[in-house]
Amino acid sequence: MSHEIIAIDGPAGSGKSTVAKAVAEQLGWAFLDTGAMYRAVTCEALSQGVDVHDQRAMGELARTVTLATLPRVTVNGRDVQDELRTEPVNLAVSIVAANPLVRESMVTRQREIAGAQSTGTVVEGRDIATVVFPHATLKVFLTASLEERSRRRGEEGVDSVARRDEADSTRTTSPLRQADGALVLDTTGQSIDDVVGEVIRCLKSITSN
Ligand code: CDP
Repeated sequence: MSHEIIAIDGPAGSGKSTVAKAVAEQLGWAFLDTGAMYRAVTCEALSQGVDVHDQRAMGELARTVTLATLPRVTVNGRDVQDELRTEPVNLAVSIVAANPLVRESMVTRQREIAGAQSTGTVVEGRDIATVVFPHATLKVFLTASLEERSRRRGEEGVDSVARRDEADSTRTTSPLRQADGALVLDTTGQSIDDVVGEVIRCLKSITSN
Protein backbone atom coordinates (compact mmCIF):
# COMPACT_ATOMS: atom_id res chain seq x y z
CA MET A 1 0.00 0.00 0.00
CA SER A 2 1.23 3.46 -0.89
CA HIS A 3 -0.40 6.59 0.37
CA GLU A 4 1.56 9.00 -1.78
CA ILE A 5 -0.80 11.64 -3.14
CA ILE A 6 -0.45 14.37 -5.72
CA ALA A 7 -3.38 16.74 -5.10
CA ILE A 8 -4.38 18.94 -8.04
CA ASP A 9 -6.98 21.68 -7.60
CA GLY A 10 -8.15 24.50 -9.82
CA PRO A 11 -11.16 26.12 -11.48
CA ALA A 12 -13.15 24.66 -14.39
CA GLY A 13 -11.10 24.06 -17.52
CA SER A 14 -7.75 24.78 -15.86
CA GLY A 15 -6.39 21.46 -17.21
CA LYS A 16 -6.67 19.36 -14.06
CA SER A 17 -7.99 16.14 -15.63
CA THR A 18 -5.63 16.15 -18.60
CA VAL A 19 -2.58 16.94 -16.48
CA ALA A 20 -3.56 14.57 -13.66
CA LYS A 21 -4.13 11.68 -16.06
CA ALA A 22 -0.80 12.24 -17.84
CA VAL A 23 1.12 12.57 -14.56
CA ALA A 24 -0.49 9.36 -13.25
CA GLU A 25 0.39 7.55 -16.45
CA GLN A 26 4.04 8.67 -16.36
CA LEU A 27 4.42 7.63 -12.74
CA GLY A 28 2.39 4.41 -13.03
CA TRP A 29 0.05 5.75 -10.34
CA ALA A 30 -3.74 5.63 -10.01
CA PHE A 31 -5.86 8.62 -11.07
CA LEU A 32 -9.04 9.91 -9.41
CA ASP A 33 -11.33 12.53 -10.97
CA THR A 34 -13.43 13.73 -8.03
CA GLY A 35 -15.48 16.11 -10.21
CA ALA A 36 -16.83 13.03 -11.98
CA MET A 37 -18.12 11.79 -8.60
CA TYR A 38 -20.07 15.02 -7.92
CA ARG A 39 -21.33 14.94 -11.51
CA ALA A 40 -22.44 11.28 -11.19
CA VAL A 41 -24.44 11.99 -8.01
CA THR A 42 -26.02 14.95 -9.83
CA CYS A 43 -26.96 12.69 -12.79
CA GLU A 44 -28.61 10.24 -10.42
CA ALA A 45 -30.59 12.98 -8.64
CA LEU A 46 -31.86 14.35 -11.96
CA SER A 47 -32.76 10.86 -13.15
CA GLN A 48 -34.64 9.99 -9.91
CA GLY A 49 -36.31 13.42 -9.77
CA VAL A 50 -34.68 14.30 -6.41
CA ASP A 51 -34.70 18.08 -5.77
CA VAL A 52 -31.02 19.08 -5.83
CA HIS A 53 -31.77 21.88 -3.32
CA ASP A 54 -33.11 19.38 -0.77
CA GLN A 55 -30.00 18.99 1.36
CA ARG A 56 -31.19 16.00 3.38
CA ALA A 57 -32.48 14.04 0.39
CA MET A 58 -29.30 14.77 -1.54
CA GLY A 59 -27.16 13.80 1.46
CA GLU A 60 -29.00 10.47 1.68
CA LEU A 61 -28.59 9.86 -2.04
CA ALA A 62 -24.84 10.62 -1.88
CA ARG A 63 -24.44 8.30 1.12
CA THR A 64 -26.22 5.34 -0.48
CA VAL A 65 -25.35 5.37 -4.20
CA THR A 66 -22.90 2.90 -5.69
CA LEU A 67 -20.27 4.87 -7.59
CA ALA A 68 -17.39 3.94 -9.88
CA THR A 69 -15.29 6.28 -12.00
CA LEU A 70 -13.11 3.84 -13.96
CA PRO A 71 -13.07 2.60 -16.66
CA ARG A 72 -16.33 4.55 -17.14
CA VAL A 73 -18.39 6.53 -14.67
CA THR A 74 -21.33 4.53 -13.32
CA VAL A 75 -23.86 5.29 -10.63
CA ASN A 76 -26.02 2.49 -9.18
CA GLY A 77 -24.67 0.34 -12.02
CA ARG A 78 -25.88 2.79 -14.72
CA ASP A 79 -23.27 4.14 -17.17
CA VAL A 80 -23.58 7.96 -16.99
CA GLN A 81 -20.27 8.81 -18.68
CA ASP A 82 -21.98 10.51 -21.63
CA GLU A 83 -24.31 12.55 -19.39
CA LEU A 84 -21.64 14.05 -17.14
CA ARG A 85 -21.09 17.24 -19.14
CA THR A 86 -24.63 17.90 -20.34
CA GLU A 87 -26.25 21.27 -19.59
CA PRO A 88 -28.62 20.06 -16.83
CA VAL A 89 -25.63 18.57 -14.98
CA ASN A 90 -23.48 21.70 -15.50
CA LEU A 91 -26.35 23.75 -14.07
CA ALA A 92 -26.95 21.59 -11.00
CA VAL A 93 -23.54 20.21 -10.04
CA SER A 94 -22.29 23.25 -8.12
CA ILE A 95 -25.50 23.24 -6.03
CA VAL A 96 -25.00 19.56 -5.23
CA ALA A 97 -21.29 20.12 -4.47
CA ALA A 98 -22.06 22.97 -2.02
CA ASN A 99 -24.05 20.56 0.18
CA PRO A 100 -21.94 19.58 3.24
CA LEU A 101 -23.69 16.20 3.56
CA VAL A 102 -22.85 15.32 -0.04
CA ARG A 103 -19.26 16.45 0.46
CA GLU A 104 -18.85 14.36 3.58
CA SER A 105 -19.81 11.18 1.68
CA MET A 106 -17.65 12.02 -1.31
CA VAL A 107 -14.59 12.87 0.78
CA THR A 108 -14.88 9.60 2.73
CA ARG A 109 -15.07 7.66 -0.53
CA GLN A 110 -12.12 9.58 -2.03
CA ARG A 111 -9.90 8.75 0.96
CA GLU A 112 -10.97 5.09 0.79
CA ILE A 113 -10.27 4.84 -2.94
CA ALA A 114 -6.77 6.32 -2.60
CA GLY A 115 -6.07 4.28 0.52
CA ALA A 116 -6.87 1.04 -1.33
CA GLN A 117 -4.33 1.61 -4.12
CA SER A 118 -1.05 -0.28 -4.24
CA THR A 119 0.53 2.75 -5.96
CA GLY A 120 0.38 6.48 -5.31
CA THR A 121 -2.70 8.37 -6.53
CA VAL A 122 -3.07 11.59 -8.49
CA VAL A 123 -6.33 13.16 -7.29
CA GLU A 124 -7.91 16.21 -8.89
CA GLY A 125 -10.78 18.47 -7.85
CA ARG A 126 -11.46 21.66 -5.89
CA ASP A 127 -10.67 20.79 -2.25
CA ILE A 128 -8.14 17.99 -2.61
CA ALA A 129 -5.10 19.78 -1.17
CA THR A 130 -7.09 21.87 1.32
CA VAL A 131 -9.50 19.30 2.78
CA VAL A 132 -9.32 15.77 1.38
CA PHE A 133 -5.54 15.22 1.51
CA PRO A 134 -3.99 18.13 3.44
CA HIS A 135 -0.81 16.03 3.89
CA ALA A 136 -0.41 15.26 0.17
CA THR A 137 3.15 14.67 -1.04
CA LEU A 138 2.71 17.44 -3.63
CA LYS A 139 -0.03 20.08 -3.91
CA VAL A 140 -0.66 21.74 -7.25
CA PHE A 141 -2.99 24.62 -8.11
CA LEU A 142 -3.69 25.04 -11.82
CA THR A 143 -5.10 28.24 -13.26
CA ALA A 144 -5.66 29.72 -16.71
CA SER A 145 -7.44 32.77 -18.09
CA LEU A 146 -11.27 32.57 -18.20
CA GLU A 147 -11.11 32.89 -22.01
CA GLU A 148 -8.81 29.92 -22.36
CA ARG A 149 -10.70 27.84 -19.81
CA SER A 150 -14.02 28.48 -21.57
CA ARG A 151 -12.48 27.63 -24.92
CA ARG A 152 -11.35 24.30 -23.46
CA ARG A 153 -14.83 23.65 -22.07
CA GLY A 154 -16.31 24.15 -25.59
CA GLU A 155 -20.08 23.88 -25.62
CA GLU A 156 -20.52 24.76 -21.95
CA GLY A 157 -19.83 28.43 -22.68
CA VAL A 158 -18.16 31.24 -20.77
CA ASP A 159 -21.21 32.19 -18.68
CA SER A 160 -21.68 28.70 -17.29
CA VAL A 161 -17.96 28.29 -16.55
CA ALA A 162 -17.86 31.68 -14.79
CA ARG A 163 -21.01 30.84 -12.82
CA ARG A 164 -19.57 27.53 -11.60
CA ASP A 165 -16.29 29.22 -10.65
CA GLU A 166 -18.16 31.83 -8.62
CA ALA A 167 -20.32 29.19 -6.88
CA ASP A 168 -17.34 26.89 -6.17
CA SER A 169 -15.16 29.71 -4.82
CA THR A 170 -17.74 31.39 -2.59
CA ARG A 171 -19.54 28.42 -1.00
CA THR A 172 -19.19 27.97 2.77
CA THR A 173 -18.08 24.33 2.76
CA SER A 174 -14.67 23.59 1.22
CA PRO A 175 -14.53 26.48 -1.26
CA LEU A 176 -12.02 26.31 -4.09
CA ARG A 177 -8.83 27.97 -2.88
CA GLN A 178 -5.11 27.68 -3.22
CA ALA A 179 -3.60 25.47 -0.50
CA ASP A 180 -0.63 26.80 1.46
CA GLY A 181 2.56 25.59 -0.14
CA ALA A 182 0.91 24.63 -3.44
CA LEU A 183 2.86 24.76 -6.68
CA VAL A 184 0.85 27.32 -8.68
CA LEU A 185 0.92 26.89 -12.44
CA ASP A 186 -0.81 29.15 -14.96
CA THR A 187 -1.53 26.88 -17.93
CA THR A 188 -2.63 29.69 -20.29
CA GLY A 189 -0.75 29.10 -23.54
CA GLN A 190 1.24 26.23 -22.01
CA SER A 191 1.47 22.79 -23.59
CA ILE A 192 0.27 19.80 -21.57
CA ASP A 193 3.77 18.32 -21.75
CA ASP A 194 5.29 21.45 -20.18
CA VAL A 195 2.84 21.41 -17.28
CA VAL A 196 3.20 17.67 -16.73
CA GLY A 197 7.00 18.01 -16.83
CA GLU A 198 6.88 20.78 -14.22
CA VAL A 199 4.71 18.68 -11.86
CA ILE A 200 6.98 15.63 -12.19
CA ARG A 201 10.12 17.76 -11.66
CA CYS A 202 8.62 19.24 -8.53
CA LEU A 203 7.63 15.79 -7.19
CA LYS A 204 11.15 14.49 -7.82
CA SER A 205 12.74 17.43 -6.05
CA ILE A 206 10.50 16.83 -3.02
CA THR A 207 11.01 13.07 -2.85
CA SER A 208 14.78 13.21 -3.42
CA ASN A 209 15.23 15.43 -0.36
O1 CDP B 1 -13.82 19.58 -15.38
P1 CDP B 1 -14.32 20.81 -14.70
O2 CDP B 1 -13.21 21.55 -14.01
O3 CDP B 1 -15.14 21.68 -15.60
O4 CDP B 1 -15.34 20.33 -13.57
P2 CDP B 1 -15.25 19.02 -12.66
O5 CDP B 1 -13.88 18.83 -12.13
O6 CDP B 1 -15.88 17.89 -13.40
O7 CDP B 1 -16.18 19.43 -11.42
C1 CDP B 1 -17.55 19.68 -11.58
C2 CDP B 1 -18.08 20.40 -10.36
O8 CDP B 1 -17.97 19.53 -9.23
C3 CDP B 1 -17.32 21.66 -9.97
O9 CDP B 1 -17.81 22.81 -10.64
C4 CDP B 1 -17.58 21.72 -8.45
O10 CDP B 1 -18.84 22.30 -8.19
C5 CDP B 1 -17.67 20.26 -8.06
N1 CDP B 1 -16.44 19.72 -7.43
C6 CDP B 1 -16.21 19.99 -6.11
O11 CDP B 1 -16.96 20.75 -5.50
N2 CDP B 1 -15.17 19.42 -5.45
C7 CDP B 1 -14.34 18.60 -6.10
N3 CDP B 1 -13.34 18.03 -5.41
C8 CDP B 1 -14.52 18.33 -7.46
C9 CDP B 1 -15.58 18.92 -8.12
